Amino acid sequence: MCGIFAYAGPRDVVEVLLTALKRLQYRGYDSCGIAVLDGDELMVVKEAGPIDRLEKRLTQYTFQARAGIAHTRWATHGQPTTVNAHPHTDCSGTVAVVHNGVIENYRELSQRLTERGHILRSQTDTELIAHLIEEALSEQSRTEDVPNEQVFLQSVRQALSQISGTYAIACLWEGAPGLMIGARHGCPLIVGAGEQEVCLSSDLNAVLPITRKVHILNDDELVLLSEKNLIIVSVTGQELSPRFQVIDWQLVQEDRAGFPTFMLKEIYEQPDRIEEILSQRCRGEQIPFFEELTLRPSELIGFRRIIIEAAGTSWHAGIYGKYLLEKYLRLPTEAEIASEFRYRQPVLEQDTLVIAISQSGETADTLAGLRQAKSRFVRVLGFCNVPGSTLSRESDGTIFLLAGPEVGVASTKAYTAQLIHLFLFTLYLGRLRWILDEDQIRSILSSLSGLPEKMRVVLESHDPIVRDCARRFQNARHFLYLARGINYPTALEGALKLKEISYIHASGYAAGEFKHGPIALVDKDCPVVCIAPTDSVYEKTFSNIEEVRARGGRLIVVTTEGNSDFDQMAEFVFTIPPIFEDLTPLLTVLPLQLLAHHIASLKGLDVDKPRNLAKSVTVE
Ligand code: F6R
Repeated sequence: MCGIFAYAGPRDVVEVLLTALKRLQYRGYDSCGIAVLDGDELMVVKEAGPIDRLEKRLTQYTFQARAGIAHTRWATHGQPTTVNAHPHTDCSGTVAVVHNGVIENYRELSQRLTERGHILRSQTDTELIAHLIEEALSEQSRTEDVPNEQVFLQSVRQALSQISGTYAIACLWEGAPGLMIGARHGCPLIVGAGEQEVCLSSDLNAVLPITRKVHILNDDELVLLSEKNLIIVSVTGQELSPRFQVIDWQLVQEDRAGFPTFMLKEIYEQPDRIEEILSQRCRGEQIPFFEELTLRPSELIGFRRIIIEAAGTSWHAGIYGKYLLEKYLRLPTEAEIASEFRYRQPVLEQDTLVIAISQSGETADTLAGLRQAKSRFVRVLGFCNVPGSTLSRESDGTIFLLAGPEVGVASTKAYTAQLIHLFLFTLYLGRLRWILDEDQIRSILSSLSGLPEKMRVVLESHDPIVRDCARRFQNARHFLYLARGINYPTALEGALKLKEISYIHASGYAAGEFKHGPIALVDKDCPVVCIAPTDSVYEKTFSNIEEVRARGGRLIVVTTEGNSDFDQMAEFVFTIPPIFEDLTPLLTVLPLQLLAHHIASLKGLDVDKPRNLAKSVTVE
């Protein structure tokens, strides 16, 4: 959730830290701070609120620093205040720590530290780590032949051995100028090794502007970093060889390419992304192929059941996947909310394949579901956007989503990339299992050819009318979204997009379920968004929409071009070009993304950084 960055090298350290924080701010944005070693003096500057406030404060200082750590926060323990912002220091102010994750034995540790005379200034769990390191430092016998860097490393190891929970940390100590230590257990941390400079971050996006040569820390590894040194050790103190890899990933564009928000830019990127995915995966109209997939075809043939587990938008994509896998492969498939899947006692047998879907690859619940499956010797296939993420490293095989970096907190292009990959994967598996023959696959693939262009048409032709609709309904108190069949997840996704960025309550329902209760909500002030392309369940959806109209609901309809059924009924009609039924969700979701975006903008809200949310949810 929060973002960590640390740097040692010849550049202007404060500037490097601030630039990195700006790249990381989508991971958390309620407060931020930096600590630098100015000569051998530790200096900490932090602020509640956005990074520009910190940037302004930093203009009052001139530091001569060669190393520093930085953090942007999404509050877990304690309010988003300046005192709770990271970095946190010990009593003497000589150790500084930034941290992602949650310390579960927080109460016990804070009581113990207080009894031993430590004064805790914040309400955070992170501060405890600084005090634990301080204690360990004072316990270490410092003899002339033990260099300070070893004392520091040993102290951090000792502190971490007392913690239960999850962490990625970076820390500095006055006694070891120019040196930083990082460690991870359950939260991502990536080491970048440049020429005479090193960095450490929770996020690849902040490392790549410094270097593409990275080592991705495993759980229970520590790293000791300085301009000249990079040493990886296990939590037991054993030195390990770094496993460097060169990452070839497009950098997040720092600007919005002329769009007012990253979200809008990402909505408009979708046709190009889908075009790129199709060209990489199908090369013309070939059977889809996933080069990176390390699960062997022989393994994929044997499964008799599939469980998809994911959270939020990725779970909605999972429901789409369920519909396709059951329809085409006749394989029993469930789409589970990861936070439920991990805690109930699911039946997991070895003829089951678990598919874990995650844009970030760091969602705590999805990772826990993955680990649960693996602990029962069940194979896990990840669908993930971020290379090097925990999900991609822990799955038995990964299909990368190729959406490119997504910055807007509300997921848009990652969602359509998930849909198209689930569609292609279904065809791939159908071929592998001899359920679909080549002719059937080619005929289905031919329907994909115009998809990117149709997405462009929907986006470009709808923008003005969606803006009108947004103006009319911006003050509505709640919205309902209805759909059937393959577009049921579109209803859930449309509602989620609206509520997360505009703070208007919205719920998505299967249209057939609506009259079993939710229809009581319909009145003359209630906009009801109905997703009704002219597909195999159209007649049924149409009857449900009539029921809504009969109760005075205000209709906004997404349907297929040429369908005039709603001309007199609906206040707004958004149309999609005709397309193969199972691909309609890639088009119907587009006006709904735009609607959510435009309503939130009209309300003057920060679309890219909605309140209380963060891009990657690394706590449960
Ligand atoms: C909604 C949204 C979230 C994420 C969810 C899972 O727009 O972004 O609901 O989809 O937090 O995140 P990932 O896909 O990273 O596991």
